[in-house]
Amino acid sequence: MKNHIIWHPATITKSDRQRLNNHKSCALWFTGYSGSGKSTLANEVDHQLFSMGVRSFVLDGDNIRHGLNKGLGFSKNDRIENIRRVGEVAKLFVDSGQIVMTAFISPYREDRENVRKLFKQEEFKEIYVECPFEICERRDPKGLYKKARKGEIRDFTGIDSPYEPPVDPELVISTHNCSVAKAAEKIIDYLVDEGVIFK
Ligand code: ADX
Repeated sequence: MKNHIIWHPATITKSDRQRLNNHKSCALWFTGYSGSGKSTLANEVDHQLFSMGVRSFVLDGDNIRHGLNKGLGFSKNDRIENIRRVGEVAKLFVDSGQIVMTAFISPYREDRENVRKLFKQEEFKEIYVECPFEICERRDPKGLYKKARKGEIRDFTGIDSPYEPPVDPELVISTHNCSVAKAAEKIIDYLVDEGVIFK
């Protein structure tokens, strides 16, 4: 079946789109515990980029699981498939010339490395949103840690499901001792330093 599906080359290339946008495109892959601040940070970066006239978008775990990945749960296999699909969608955004931010726990190192392989080296930036587990649990913005402790939610990351921190991420952002605005600025500065966007 697959042998009968032939890739159709695009007429407008990624470079054409980047030239029109006046910036390069890349994926900022946020990873970290639930409650570490991935979505908050990604949305703040999105806001700052928008104000600069940069085309960006956030793919958020909780939201994507309401639509594209509605049928997936939190078993190891479902998480693998969740991340695989999001990696492919992120790739499409980068091909479309945008800066895409993904906010998913993405607990398995191997899955993140598999996503990385979809991209050119300079197009994929892994950002470890670092926050001590105890603080994430104390924040408990959605009340899910409490439920997991009571046994009402199974396979909860950090409680009865693993989290493997990145070994060599492009950036580490600690959210327990830094304001959201400051943390977002660090990411924007990084994008400027890397030549992705121009100030
Ligand atoms: S991932 O592990 O597959 O990357 P994803 O980021 O999509 O996870 O979804 C995580 C979000 O789902 C959490 O922020 C939390 O709100 C919710 N959630 C519900 N059940 C679980 C669970 N068992 N483990 C972790 N997060 C859960």
